[in-house]
Amino acid sequence: MIVSDLDHTMVDHHDPENLSILRFNALWEAKYRQDSLLVFSTGRSPTLYKQLRKEKPMLTPDITIMSVGTEITYGNAMVPDEGWVDVLNHKWDKNIVTEETNKFPELTLQSETEQRPHKASFYVKKEKAQEITKNLSEILAKRGLDVKIIYSGGMDLDILPQGAGKGQALAYLHKKLKAEGKLPQNTLACGDSGNDAELFTIPDVHGVMVKNAQEELLQWHAENAKNNPKIIHADERCAAGIIQAIGHFNLGPNTSPRDLPDLLDAKLDHFDPAYEVVKFYLFVERWRRGEVDAPERYLDNLKVVFSSAGLYVNPFGIEQSFDDVVGKLKDCYGDKKGKQYRVWVDQVFPVQVDSNTWLVNFKKWDQIGEVQQGCYTSAILSCKGVEPSQGLTWVHVHQTWMDGLTSDDKSWFL
Ligand code: GLC
Ligand code: MG
Repeated sequence: MIVSDLDHTMVDHHDPENLSILRFNALWEAKYRQDSLLVFSTGRSPTLYKQLRKEKPMLTPDITIMSVGTEITYGNAMVPDEGWVDVLNHKWDKNIVTEETNKFPELTLQSETEQRPHKASFYVKKEKAQEITKNLSEILAKRGLDVKIIYSGGMDLDILPQGAGKGQALAYLHKKLKAEGKLPQNTLACGDSGNDAELFTIPDVHGVMVKNAQEELLQWHAENAKNNPKIIHADERCAAGIIQAIGHFNLGPNTSPRDLPDLLDAKLDHFDPAYEVVKFYLFVERWRRGEVDAPERYLDNLKVVFSSAGLYVNPFGIEQSFDDVVGKLKDCYGDKKGKQYRVWVDQVFPVQVDSNTWLVNFKKWDQIGEVQQGCYTSAILSCKGVEPSQGLTWVHVHQTWMDGLTSDDKSWFL
């Protein structure tokens, strides 16, 4: 299980190409999606979390923890954990927090979206943070509350119930998964700022502070966890630091398919439909960006990989033969050259339907500049008459637009 913060950990806001998260995505979908849990743990409210998803190439997590560990939701439908809310109500009264914080002119209220039932959030100058935290804790304790005050990113001050926070939310999740007999073998916690510190205090958790971690987190580490070999400070930024930690702690494969310079050379000794799908869409991205070294070689390979009897139904419901698809691919070599064009796949789930055949369901995303598009995709892949080193044959692909994420280009393909 990976439990990762988003801003400046999974998501690098200083990398307009989003390369490190895209590397992580390809690794996760090729090697981990089917038997691991992806948990995002963010300070953002549901509103700002959904906004970030529209801006960045993010995968869909299995579990989403928002508002600094005060809101836990499950699955794509983001079903809230009601049991967690009960825990948070202990010695908490939002009205009292509001009443008392109003008396501090140094506290500037954050936007309305970030004020949540179990979280009050403000901006405070760095030099004032410690003093205000101390005073507020005393006052709120006198009023009968038991709160936790967290300073993050050198500017954000969150007031939460004592039992809340990213660490407590993770501990709660561990307990719940254990009761269901689903406790993961390993947990890797990933973060960059003050509200992530707690994640590293949960028993049996490996931790990575990404290279670009904030001063407040590094200071917490120096004071509290300096000699803990289970926590590292990566020398790579953001998601690249997460990949580095997977390798450092020996948690599993740590080579992203995105790092393979020649996808045709990436041969396997067994059939692996998830890997095949990840690889194919990496190829599509490179092809359209004009980054393939010997296009002819790839084209010949495509004619083999795409069964000529195969059928593609595009998201407008228009039918195309695989021969047409290959022909169109040929024509669009390099058509996105110099553009910010990226492709990634999400929630790749293969099901073996008979000894030769897999049905693979996934979400196929692409982004050009700021605009994201997404299609539910079902593909049938077959191993009939081929060796693992040749890869699986695609025999059918069917796509449906995801709600609100359509294109008006009717010739759309794949
Ligand atoms: C996110 C939230 C903000 C919070 C901060 C630190 O930026 O939007 O409300 O204060 O994380 O936890
Ligand atoms: Mg962060």
